[in-house]
Amino acid sequence: MTQESTGPAYKIIDHTYDTVVVGAGGSGLRATMGSAEAGLKTACITKVFPTRSHTVAAQGGIAASLKNNTPDHWTWHMYDTVKGSDWLGDQDAIEYMVREAPDAILELEHAGVPFSRNEDGTIYQRPFGGHMQNMGEGPPVQRTCAAADRTGHALLHALYQQSLKYAADFYIEYFAIDLIMENGKCVGVIALCLDDGSIHRFRSQAVVLATGGYGRSYFTATSAHTCTGDGGGMVLRAGLCLQDMEFVQFHPTGIYGAGVLITEGARGEGGYLTNSEGERFMERYAPSAKDLASRDVVSRSMALEIREGRGVGPNKDHIYLHLDHIDPKVLAQRLPGITESGKIFAGVDLTRQPLPVVPTVHYNMGGIPTNYHGEVMTIGADGNPETVVPGLFAVGEAACVSVHGANRLGSNSLTDLVVFGRATGHRLKEIVKPGAKQPELPKDSADLALTRLDHFRYADGGTPTAAIRKEMQQNMSAHAAVFRTDELMAEGKAAIAETYKKMQDVKVSDRGLIWNSDLIETMELDNLIGQATVTLHGAHARKESRGAHAHEDFPDRDDANWMKHTVGWFNGWGGKGGEVRLDYRPVHEYTLTDDAQYIKPKKRVY
Ligand code: FUM
Repeated sequence: MTQESTGPAYKIIDHTYDTVVVGAGGSGLRATMGSAEAGLKTACITKVFPTRSHTVAAQGGIAASLKNNTPDHWTWHMYDTVKGSDWLGDQDAIEYMVREAPDAILELEHAGVPFSRNEDGTIYQRPFGGHMQNMGEGPPVQRTCAAADRTGHALLHALYQQSLKYAADFYIEYFAIDLIMENGKCVGVIALCLDDGSIHRFRSQAVVLATGGYGRSYFTATSAHTCTGDGGGMVLRAGLCLQDMEFVQFHPTGIYGAGVLITEGARGEGGYLTNSEGERFMERYAPSAKDLASRDVVSRSMALEIREGRGVGPNKDHIYLHLDHIDPKVLAQRLPGITESGKIFAGVDLTRQPLPVVPTVHYNMGGIPTNYHGEVMTIGADGNPETVVPGLFAVGEAACVSVHGANRLGSNSLTDLVVFGRATGHRLKEIVKPGAKQPELPKDSADLALTRLDHFRYADGGTPTAAIRKEMQQNMSAHAAVFRTDELMAEGKAAIAETYKKMQDVKVSDRGLIWNSDLIETMELDNLIGQATVTLHGAHARKESRGAHAHEDFPDRDDANWMKHTVGWFNGWGGKGGEVRLDYRPVHEYTLTDDAQYIKPKKRVY
């Protein structure tokens, strides 16, 4: 069906759904499954095939206090997550996540996730960084439920199958261009079918953004090339804010040179790091947790060792990860995926040689602000920081609930995806009426998206997309790295503004619509660059060190002035100048129920 429009002339195919989910990683699939299971007519739009989504990179597992391998309690999981977040996490949301996690995992087990097993048949749980027993007083806890080192991949298969079972419709290899907003409410989304170039307008009562992180704003990242933060880009163009973007996680063990992830499960199974002197240096930085300290602590320690001349290799610019002391049978059983990656990407036989690794961009703690129901929030015109944007939800790495605060614990990502994907399904069931008649969309509902599509499709400047992208990525890697200074971040802000200007001069060579990777990569770059800009501005403004934001001019955490979430807007589309506006919203210093105690800030040591 075509509809009259004031924008560029494209034939539009219209669809009506109760719920449209954008993205088919772990959170998108869990929300899709929940929505469809609730009897809602549900579509899932995804630019990659669901089982190829980036959730595969959560190799090592999913955290929940099942107590299969060691004593545990959800309050211990809560304590570790709050401490890991460096007290920037919202404690109501954290309580919700850790309490719901065991049930959410048992659901996954019943949905068919092939978890590794203990002798007694229970799900195998391994240690992971920052997860400790007895409110941090005890040794590492085994809390991370694993399917060997392919947990995320296993999860995607089960959730995709379940979504199909509940008859969700999948639009696979469709690229979402923009949200349709009407008077501050989200009423749908416009997408391009990559395969045949057709344009699709989805009208829906609710849109769930599950589009993942924007790791590809950096030069080297464990993130797939598809991690271009498309939902964050859409939200910024809709005039909404993103939250805590300055907190970018560096995973301690990306393969040197390749950036490919080596799971933290490797250290969970007994692996350890050494410097050029053969020293297990984590014993100095984190005397209790050692190699299983939280990721920000381990990454900073590695960066310091390298900076002080104790890196390994001809350029002394990386670190060794040892697994060569572990029984090869254990490696084959528990870590087969990284054993293969070590061989392919570093030419290393893990049973006999150490693996060269370096801290590598892995995860965005920041994203689209939501409450624990998955509803997107903004600061309202009346100043209310908890104002819900009607019709719009976000889940997974695209969102900032905020359970990870300034630093996420390993294996809490899959927990976040599944728990809040499921919570969103519950909320949709409460507020969306199956099959309710929806108002006609305004005549110009596709214009913003199609004008943008047209703009880039016919862009005839002098600078190829790849050149602008490389400049942005190098800037981010240089100016928003593990350690930051005032001067570096100011330089980064100025440089990204120059790079953003070059988007006016971008050159797209392919004018077609069918499998036009030149065009798609340009729209992805447009999504990335706004988020990179907000990241640098938020980072430069935050005059303290907290979690992953290690500010060398302000080395201490400053709770009196900075225990607050940054929110940022980007005025960056349609010839606008790319200015950033920042504001702040309070951290939730309360719990949901009386079963949980608010955990007061204290010094964070491992
Ligand atoms: O190290 C890993 O297996 C990654 C997991 C995560 O980021 O949660």
